[in-house]
Amino acid sequence: MFEVFYGFKHTPFTRNIPTDQLYQSLILEETLGRLQYAADRQMFAVVTGDCGTGKTTAIRRFRDILDTSKFSVMYLADSKLTPRHFYKGLLEQLGCEAKFYRGDAKRQLHREIELMQGIHKLRPVVIVDEAHLLDREMLEEVRFLLNFKMDSQSPMALILVGQSELWDKFQLQAYAAIKQRVDIQCKLNHYDRAQVGEYVHRHLDYAACDSEIFSDAALDEIFKYSSGSARLINKLCTHCLLYGAQNGRRIIDDHMVKLVIQGELA
Ligand SMILES: Nc1ncnc2c1ncn2[C@@H]1O[C@H](COP(=O)(O)OP(=O)(O)O)[C@@H](O)[C@H]1O
Ligand SMILES: [Mg+2]
Repeated sequence: MFEVFYGFKHTPFTRNIPTDQLYQSLILEETLGRLQYAADRQMFAVVTGDCGTGKTTAIRRFRDILDTSKFSVMYLADSKLTPRHFYKGLLEQLGCEAKFYRGDAKRQLHREIELMQGIHKLRPVVIVDEAHLLDREMLEEVRFLLNFKMDSQSPMALILVGQSELWDKFQLQAYAAIKQRVDIQCKLNHYDRAQVGEYVHRHLDYAACDSEIFSDAALDEIFKYSSGSARLINKLCTHCLLYGAQNGRRIIDDHMVKLVIQGELA
């Protein structure tokens, strides 16, 4: 569609952007550094941020750069996670068929993790995305993963990823036990105006576009509408490019962005 009109080689503003092509914001760099630190030391890390601020994308990047000769990543993003599904999901990723009963599956997972470390010399990294949707019982179950050995060494790195309310929840008395165990905290935030400009240009560079498409005033409008959320920037820019291509506009200005917001996204 608009790719032909603008001469793009790749489609910008999609979730498929390869992780070596991402916009490298300072906060992304910092988050990746902290997650690496947590993985190296088998720590418990929590990544929070409002929706669309790039949490899952940061995790995608983290998986891609993690040394696969040293670490084995298990990733779950299931909002309806029950303890049984949790163990089943992890065991499946280890190539095992989970035992039926929750207690059995749990012991099975512990054994597999010990084998992984002892025989394959791989350190497990368990990542649970959308963790703000988990209830307290489930969060406790996840945390117990860190406890299964009586010795001081944690058996794995655990990374919980969720919207900001996950961290708010942890402030409640009922969650004190979990909160106390958190070693590393990362918070992703919304982009500011300058970062929105850099973000849009990064996606256009990835698309292999060598001309400016969005005017400065257009970027101001994109910032206002999206409040710096990557997902909303993607959505608005995609609508603008469609509109621009349909109307034969090589340059997208603030007037067009406003029209698109009013017409399609209001
Ligand atoms: N650093 C980045 N560089 C390029 N695109 C990004 C970046 N972070 C996020 N995105 C884009 O924003 C979209 C939403 O990000 P996502 O990671 O799904 O947010 P969250 O998990 O916080 O809700 C992704 O599909 C991706 O296209
Ligand atoms: Mg996400």
